[in-house]
Amino acid sequence: MTDAKPPALPERIPAHVAIIMDGNGRWAKARGLPRLAGHRAGVDNLRRVLEAAVEFGIRHLTIYAFSTENWARPPDEVRGLLNILDEVIDRELAQLHKNGVCLRHIGRLERLDPALQEKVQQAVALTRDNTKLVLNIAWNYGGRDEIVHALQQILRQGYAPEAVDEALIARHLFTAGSPDPDLVVRTSGELRTSNFLIWQAAYAEWYVTPTLWPDFGRDDLLAALVEFGRRERRFGGVPDAPG
Ligand code: IPE
Ligand code: IPE
Ligand code: MG
Repeated sequence: MTDAKPPALPERIPAHVAIIMDGNGRWAKARGLPRLAGHRAGVDNLRRVLEAAVEFGIRHLTIYAFSTENWARPPDEVRGLLNILDEVIDRELAQLHKNGVCLRHIGRLERLDPALQEKVQQAVALTRDNTKLVLNIAWNYGGRDEIVHALQQILRQGYAPEAVDEALIARHLFTAGSPDPDLVVRTSGELRTSNFLIWQAAYAEWYVTPTLWPDFGRDDLLAALVEFGRRERRFGGVPDAPG
């Protein structure tokens, strides 16, 4: 057997990659560990994937960390996930800031305890002028909830119905300021959106891999980019006609 050479980085790199980090529970179960051990492994993995994203020149990365539906999980698991968020900010913020990462939160903070809300807001404020990579953390995020929130804002601001168009709605989404994702990656093989970026990903390319999130590394991200490089994006048009 010859050593397989890693594929070259494609010329066309998506400006915005969004990842549904799924499969932590199955990763833990396969090792006879509690689900929270899977979530911890998932967070550790995030550092690897972030480094790879910077290496590959991705400018916007959105990660799905906790959905509006994930409150339905057992209270211990929810509490554990909240603790992990808290710890991760304490542990990683200084380095993220040093590395030029601009942190943003998408979703609602309301259900978090006030101290944690404050911590998230401070992290966002500290890193707001960083330009190396925008990292949108989707926490207590749901695509439907985001659209409801946007509509509430628009109505409150008194827009006339004729003034409502797609651009106005997009400007009121939590992701305002990031381009629409070009590529959505879902780990662990599920073929569904699970309420992630349902507006913004209308024309994203999808890449689903059976690899569980804690095992998804640099080369897996590279494989997703290579596949993206092969896709023909048509946006409802027709392929370029020869001649
Ligand atoms: C994704 O992993 C992390 C969160 C949803 C918080 P899961 O916890 O959904 O893992 P599986 O799908 O049960 O394997
Ligand atoms: C989606 O994964 C949410 C996150 C990764 C945070 P889930 O594991 O919650 O999705 P379903 O329930 O399988 O659709
Ligand atoms: Mg899951």
